[in-house]
Parts: sequence; C-alpha cells; structure tokens
Amino acid sequence: ATVLVNGQGNRETPCCIAVKDGQLLVGEAAQTSGLPPEDIVFGVKRLLGRKWNSPDLAEDLRHLPFRVVEGKNQQAVIPVRWGEEEKLLYPEEVLALILRELKNTIVEHTGLADTKSIGAVLTVPASFNDAQRQAAKDAGAIAGFNVLRIINEPTSAAIALGLDKYHESERNAVLVDMGGCSTDVTVLTIEDGIFEIKSTAGSARHGGEDLDGRLLEYCLAQFSREHPGVDLRARPRALRRLQKACERAKCRLSHDIQAVIEVDSLVEGHDFSCQITRARFEELIREQLEETLRLAK
Ligand SMILES: Nc1ncnc2c1ncn2[C@@H]1O[C@H](COP(=O)(O)OP(=O)(O)O)[C@@H](O)[C@H]1O
Ligand SMILES: [Mg+2]
Repeated sequence: ATVLVNGQGNRETPCCIAVKDGQLLVGEAAQTSGLPPEDIVFGVKRLLGRKWNSPDLAEDLRHLPFRVVEGKNQQAVIPVRWGEEEKLLYPEEVLALILRELKNTIVEHTGLADTKSIGAVLTVPASFNDAQRQAAKDAGAIAGFNVLRIINEPTSAAIALGLDKYHESERNAVLVDMGGCSTDVTVLTIEDGIFEIKSTAGSARHGGEDLDGRLLEYCLAQFSREHPGVDLRARPRALRRLQKACERAKCRLSHDIQAVIEVDSLVEGHDFSCQITRARFEELIREQLEETLRLAK
C-alpha cells in the first residue's frame, strides 16, 4: 500500500472546508485561508447521521464555531456562503467534498479515469450507529466512489499494525485512538484474521488538541513572565500561531526526547522560544493520560 500526497505535498488532509471568493478550499487550504473561524467548517464527523433533537448533538454544537441549523428530516445542516448565494450543506455533503478532493489526488497520481470504478473502504468510529454508517457511505457515493465496505477505525488500525499476522490462536488487543478532539479505547479479539469488537468506550471531548492546549498554557505562562505588559490571550492570531507551534512540538516529542517551540515575532516584535523535554510534557498532560487509562478500565 502507498499513501499518496495531496496537492500540498502532505500525507494527511485535515477534514475541513471553506469557501473564499466563491472558491471551494479543502483541508489545509481552508485552514490557512485567513477566513474567520465561523467560516471554516470542520468536525462534520460529529454531525453525520445525527438527529437534530439528540442531546449528544446539542452538546457538540456548543463547541462548533460555525453555524448549524435544522434541515429536512431533523438533520443538521450547515449554511455556507458560496459566492452570491447561500448553500445548505448536509454533513455527508461536506464529507463528500473532502472525499472528492482525495479522489482527485488519486486520479492525478494513478491516471485512473474519474469514474465510479474507484473502490473505497471507509473507516468510521466503532461507536457509530447504522444511521451514521449509512451517512458515511452516502458521502462516499456522492464523492463518486464505489464504497466497498465501511469498517471500524480500531479494526483498520489493528490491520495496519498487522495484529492478525502474529498469532494463529485467539488473542485480545486494546487499541487507544487519540484523534484531534476525541479518544476511543476499544477491546477486540482476533482469530483467524477475523476481528470482533468486544467493547468500546470513548471520550468525545478529549484528544490531541487538549495536549496542545496544555503546552500552550505552559508557553503562555513563560511569555507573560518574559513580557508582563503584553496580554497574548487577547491576540487571537498570535495565539493560533503559538498553538500550531505547540502541536508541532507535541508531534516531535513522539520520537525525540526534547523539542523547541519557536515563533518569530509572535507579537509586537517579540520572538518566542521555549524548550521542553518529553518528561516535562508528560507531567503537563498527566490528567489527560490518566483519563485515557480510566477509559481503558
Ligand atoms: N506524531 C504525532 N505525535 C503526536 N500526536 C500526533 C502526531 N501526529 C498527529 N498527531 C495528533 O493527532 C491528532 C489528529 O488525529 P487524527 O486521527 O488525524 O484526527 P481525527 O480527530 O480526525 O481522528 C492531532 O491532535 C495531531 O496533533
Ligand atoms: Mg483518527
């Protein structure tokens, strides 16, 4: 298997879209468009296949900066300004726009004709119900894929890790999947290449972004010691740049034992630089790690 790079040269495409000057922007192009947060649509996985009146949805909506309204069949729908008109996009349509972008990448790299013949296996959280799975399938179809299967994310992770290869007899595995804003812990058994999910637990509001957040707090404390007169919290653009630098440092700490967080001319010409060790970082995120372990019990 080969992971293709997208138009930006990256192997991952953030799940977000925006429309600027009537042009659709997908992934990083949307993130770096300079548009205000309420114009960038992300996290539609949370809206997919959900009923408007479900309490889970109401809770999620409080955390999304963009507008979501009630559409037909009690579905959530996102009004998007598209040039002169306002389009109502259903979550599966937003997902389809992202999938179509991925399909374009496939077409460009492989020279395959852009027809329905490109088979796709899509992965969804193990906790997804039938309606959510159907919505994911619909998104694939709208994007023009021939959706072969919908499989669970932990199962796909187990396959990617080759967990079905090592033993013939039945064995158990615990998979911890920390995404951007959620963490799922799944127990599954594997026998003769068959995966069976025994149980799954998740925290829909804790994930990698919380780790970035802890690192950001750490940097903010250092910055205010260095420049007591400057309130960085009141500077959204500077905060976002620092937060991005924190995320990069976090990723680096996955393989290095220390990292530097550096932002040139962060605010009012002040450069920012801070060194952090993995041990210190692990202290900062102790609560999150404990919460993850609690989920696994
Ligand atoms: N090498 C890495 N080390 C630590 N965290 C990483 C690394 N690569 C990506 N991440 C983090 O993983 C999170 C995104 O997870 P992902 O599974 O891609 O998203 P999703 O929430 O859609 O499942 C982000 O918080 C990102 O910072
Ligand atoms: Mg993920």
